[in-house]
Amino acid sequence: MSKSLNSIFIPALGGVALLLGAAYGLSSRDYGRDQIDMLQDRVAQVEGQAATARSEAEAEAAKSAELAAAGSDLEARVAELEAAVASARSSGGSMTQGAPQPDTKTGLGRTALPEEIAAWDVDVRPGGIGLPEGRGDAYTGEEVFAENCAICHGDFAEGVDNWPVLAGGFDTLADKDPVKTVGSYWPYLSTVWDYVNRSMPFGAAQTLEPDDVYAITAYILYSNDLVDDDFELSHENFAEFEMYNKDGFIVDDRAETEYPIWRTEPCMENCKDSVEITMHASVLDVTPEEEGADQGAAMPEATHDDAAAEPTSEEPAAETAVAALDPELVAKGEKVFKKCSACHQVGDSAKNKTGPALNGIIGQTFGSVDGFKYSKVFRAAAEEGRVWDAAEMAEFLTKPKAYMKGTRMSFAGLKKPADIDAVTAYLQSFGG
Ligand code: HEC
Ligand code: HEC
Repeated sequence: MSKSLNSIFIPALGGVALLLGAAYGLSSRDYGRDQIDMLQDRVAQVEGQAATARSEAEAEAAKSAELAAAGSDLEARVAELEAAVASARSSGGSMTQGAPQPDTKTGLGRTALPEEIAAWDVDVRPGGIGLPEGRGDAYTGEEVFAENCAICHGDFAEGVDNWPVLAGGFDTLADKDPVKTVGSYWPYLSTVWDYVNRSMPFGAAQTLEPDDVYAITAYILYSNDLVDDDFELSHENFAEFEMYNKDGFIVDDRAETEYPIWRTEPCMENCKDSVEITMHASVLDVTPEEEGADQGAAMPEATHDDAAAEPTSEEPAAETAVAALDPELVAKGEKVFKKCSACHQVGDSAKNKTGPALNGIIGQTFGSVDGFKYSKVFRAAAEEGRVWDAAEMAEFLTKPKAYMKGTRMSFAGLKKPADIDAVTAYLQSFGG
């Protein structure tokens, strides 16, 4: 709620809900509960009169602001409100008001222009409230979609790689891994229109014309088999459309069904005499450094030993490299590797995760780990036959996105050259 009554005041003329809002706003300013109740009663009395409030509002607002500034009591403000509502009511007029005048106390800000408000006011609600006029059919939508959306969401809204799938998934909602798409899951069509209009295409949000958004929305319905390809969506028939999962959401009834179960009187008997705080979690370091010993920490030793004990005859160079590694550096690299281990594994049982397994990476061709789906740049580097050495690795790890433009590795990079040396040594200890 706004700070001064002045800025509460004008919107309040638009409806009683906001008058009530004013009451709550005031409540946070340390008025007593009784006074608030009383104010609400008074507000309720004003309720009937508030419906068509308007034009003398600004003059009245100024008056009211003076009153507020002068520290007049609550009674006087309510009286002012009543008077203002009564006079505004008699003058009639449109329901929209300009934005608040600058706060007279602080002198900050200015009145927002109607255009500025319109630019913010893009929301579309269930039933289509807030939609601009326009229309578009699924057939047109297919073209617009192919041009603007298919690169990520697929020609048929089926989703490319990991980009969201927008179609299908019907009857999977009760499964362990439900496919929640616009078609199978979203209860309101307005969400589709609003979402696309507001935030897509990803990276070029709000570049679409309303007709395009209608057409795309129609096409997404078509790709979900919910309409035919000649289906035209417009502001006129929008509200009629019912989504597949419209009944799949329920009103949250936990306040009645669950809260009472958990909100019983707390036991206050037989309490300890005194309770002291002995340590703060941040100091205690509740996440131990050696966490993850089950996978990372124990493995390197084992592999390291294996590699040293049974050098493969085809790769004597690798053996020398391993043997020459500084154990301290490797140990340090193991710590640095924690930054990588969310996505990469090393060691005997290493698997491809978000990133490829990195055993033997130094000396290996770029993008050549079996079974991993690389990005285009990495596939291209593999075709060129580029090979990882310490220097390439250092450049890559300093700024992955700069060195391999288009890489899918979402990692900002390692700032300290010493960390890079260490992690490279650590990787080398797994062959390569
Ligand atoms: C560059 C890739 C890209 C392009 C192009 C793109 N999107 Fe998206 N889209 C995304 C990503 C990423 C998300 C998920 C965003 C999130 O969850 O925050 C998404 C989410 C969506 C969703 C919500 C899906 C869900 O189930 O939550 C819809 C609907 C959608 N996009 C429609 C479109 C339409 C229509 C276009 C073309 C006008 C488009 N997108 C273009 C990447 C893209
Ligand atoms: C958020 C996940 C993530 C993190 C964190 C991450 N990587 Fe990666 N990494 C990937 C992905 C994904 C790829 C595949 C890149 C591609 O296909 O564009 C990759 C590729 C690589 C490659 C190339 C592999 C090959 O076969 O050519 C190396 C080397 C690598 N990462 C090392 C590291 C190191 C070292 C760290 C930590 C300092 C690290 N990564 C952190 C996800 C990650």
